[in-house]
Amino acid sequence: MIFTEEMLQSMKKVEAAREANIALEPRRMTADEKDKLLNAYHPDYKDAGFTTIKVGPNAGQKCPVELNEMIEGHARVLDMDIDLNKVDYEADVLIIGGGGAGSSAAIEAHKAGAKVMMVTKLRIGDANTMMAEGGIQAADKPNDSPAQHYLDVMGGGHYANRPELVRKLVMDGPIAIKWLNELGVEFDKDEDGTMVTTHGGGTSRKRMHAAADYSGAEIMRTLRDEVLNRGIPVIDFTAAIEIIKDDQGHAAGAVLMNMETGEILIAKAKTVVIATGGAGRMHYQGFPTSNHYGATADGLILGYRAGAKLLYQDTLQYHPTGVAFPKQIFGALVTEKVRSMGAKLINVDGEVFMHPLETRDVAAASIIRECSDHEKGVPTPAGKAVWLDTPMIDAIHGKGTLEKRLPAMLRMYLKFGIDMRETPILVYPTLHYQNGGLEITVDGQTCVENLFVAGEAVGGIHGRNRLMGNSLLDIIVFGRNAGQQASAKAKTVTVGKLTLDHVKKYDEALKAAGIESKALSPKLLPDYTRKVNE
Ligand code: FUM
Repeated sequence: MIFTEEMLQSMKKVEAAREANIALEPRRMTADEKDKLLNAYHPDYKDAGFTTIKVGPNAGQKCPVELNEMIEGHARVLDMDIDLNKVDYEADVLIIGGGGAGSSAAIEAHKAGAKVMMVTKLRIGDANTMMAEGGIQAADKPNDSPAQHYLDVMGGGHYANRPELVRKLVMDGPIAIKWLNELGVEFDKDEDGTMVTTHGGGTSRKRMHAAADYSGAEIMRTLRDEVLNRGIPVIDFTAAIEIIKDDQGHAAGAVLMNMETGEILIAKAKTVVIATGGAGRMHYQGFPTSNHYGATADGLILGYRAGAKLLYQDTLQYHPTGVAFPKQIFGALVTEKVRSMGAKLINVDGEVFMHPLETRDVAAASIIRECSDHEKGVPTPAGKAVWLDTPMIDAIHGKGTLEKRLPAMLRMYLKFGIDMRETPILVYPTLHYQNGGLEITVDGQTCVENLFVAGEAVGGIHGRNRLMGNSLLDIIVFGRNAGQQASAKAKTVTVGKLTLDHVKKYDEALKAAGIESKALSPKLLPDYTRKVNE
């Protein structure tokens, strides 16, 4: 048994209270209670985690310290002798990033007849899309509507969402599900073929479509197949390290770096789509993450140095239920689906302390409070945590349900000797999603002509807090949209003389502000090397 004696003592209380806790219907918090809770406990409200941006379009605004280090960082191209006349690749549409948004964009641009190429610093599918578990929202059931979905998204995002982007997200939701279904995604279905849908935190209708608890992997598998079947060129292990502009100030390609050899390559394109994904590997405020290895906010930096604006860069999502124990999978995602299937969050004394489906920011803050000021956390080697009472699932829905609906998670825990059908699991918030990103119009374009963005690198769709399942939806809706818009735009573009002058000017602005950093930017990969004496 790998649990400590303290954990086992607490677990006995959880087991003793299980039946009563299943019957309990915890009330939802009032708006006022939520505001107070967030202000006091959510990491987005901790002043020490933030600083003020000094240069560029968002100067004067709040920004996570770690992201600002990259904003103030040293552009790799400044130390290189780069010949922009020697073009290695030429395309109509250059897509930077090999996840769900980039793949969706590539498929649509290719379908429109554009010459498309993808570059990705790891491999196609090494992306947060692949890690997504719980599902994808879309209002396609008779008791639901895009209008209802719209209200949920806006409410979850604290009404800070860009309305025109939310409108597109929800209106195109049912189309996205149909598109994926026709491409071959194996969604969970009833015997009559009806899609199975469940609730997520903050949803007023059951609209979460899933493929068990590996929805993202199933979607990514299908998109990757489609990209490769279409013969779209994918240049892997090749990072974009700078956006190239032309002499009209329009985006016109990217400087690429082979991740293995360091070789520099030039890609010239009529339009560019940044689809580089999230930022969990920036480990904001020291949090662990559920994100893939390459999630280092690169696209935000590339776009920003090219003149694009950031929006809500100061808001991150901490998924309430990251693995807190065992340490081998510390920070990994425990899907919200576990709670949507009835498992409740329980403190060290076996008490339910919140409604299990509050929105993520509220749920995360509530767990942090339980483990800090309330002193009701369960001690683990990495700090305090709370229980997620997973045996409730089979107790509510019948034996075999957990294994059927959460097979990947069950196996993940079994590897470490924990059978989540029999014992509860320990969880604590983990850095999961970048709510903010680059600002776009509804056609997916930034304020830099011919520079488009899709997926997690976009800011504004989810306001200041995203609901579960709206990220898989957003990568499909806005990925496809970016591919369609960028390919249409490419038909009108004649690329001028290529230049990196904007990078030099940005560097001059940094120096004028007294900033001279040695930190190479963008980050590209996290640094987990142990320092001497550590
Ligand atoms: O909890 C989850 O399965 C995560 C889903 C999401 O971030 O959309």
